[in-house]
Amino acid sequence: DYRVNSRTLRYVPEESKDKVITDQEVLGALLKVFQALFLNDFHKQTDVVTVLPEAVKSAYQGLLAVQHRRVNPLENRHPQQINLKPEDILFKTLGFSVARATSSVLSAGRGVFVTKGLVPRGTVVSMYPGTVYQKYEPVFFQSIGNPFIFRCLDGTLIDGNDKGLSKVIYRSCSGRDRLGPLRMSDSTWLTPEIHNPLAVGQYVNNCSNDRAANVCYQEFDVPAIFPVELKQYLPNIAYSCDKQSPLRCVVLVALRDIKQGEELFSNYYTIVS
Ligand SMILES: *[C@@H]1O[C@H](CO)[C@@H](O)[C@H](O)[C@H]1NC(C)=O
Repeated sequence: DYRVNSRTLRYVPEESKDKVITDQEVLGALLKVFQALFLNDFHKQTDVVTVLPEAVKSAYQGLLAVQHRRVNPLENRHPQQINLKPEDILFKTLGFSVARATSSVLSAGRGVFVTKGLVPRGTVVSMYPGTVYQKYEPVFFQSIGNPFIFRCLDGTLIDGNDKGLSKVIYRSCSGRDRLGPLRMSDSTWLTPEIHNPLAVGQYVNNCSNDRAANVCYQEFDVPAIFPVELKQYLPNIAYSCDKQSPLRCVVLVALRDIKQGEELFSNYYTIVS
């Protein structure tokens, strides 16, 4: 296989840079899901909660009370037992869930499927996890035989490989950027137990003649106003700790309604060197 020793980069052509939805809509979707994940996990996050400002803390406590009342009044007495799986949280907040499974494309390995619900057109359906490199940063060794590197339009690279050196680097950057109990990124996408169920975008297969693309990539810079307690669900981390530039994320957005059982297909090209 030519891929074993060569270096490949995934990219989308310049023409496709028009955003399907606004940054505000991407932010809205991520906040909705992350906040629900955080609430679901609230009882396990006491160390995080203690460092939050009082106003933020009480806002969550209010939300938590409302949520528990809505779910089941009996569970209110044992809030520590209300703990849904991340996929269920995604379903509850955006109306669908996605997961990896054997692709419907022969020899494509794994793919990503809508496992439940309906993905309405123009919805954030997935995120592309990985270490983010500025275009001047060295990525040579990580890129050898690695088909998971995504190149953004400005040359920023995202290494979404969950194995080998790529994994080690992500973990070390993620550990570096911790602020006490606050994690600035999610590294569970490197494990079988993913905390952010959207972080499977690197496994979305390319379209083909008989399978049209139903999702597209869209770049998103995490704004400064992003709540610090929700950064623990961001599946991206900067390779260098340069705090000047915002964190780059890439999300996948549905180009049409996608039904339960359908596989996601994007449209990307590769440069081989
Ligand atoms: C992805 O699919 C498109 C359309 O079928 C094709 O032109 C392109 O070369 C494919 N990319 C890769 C990396 O195979």
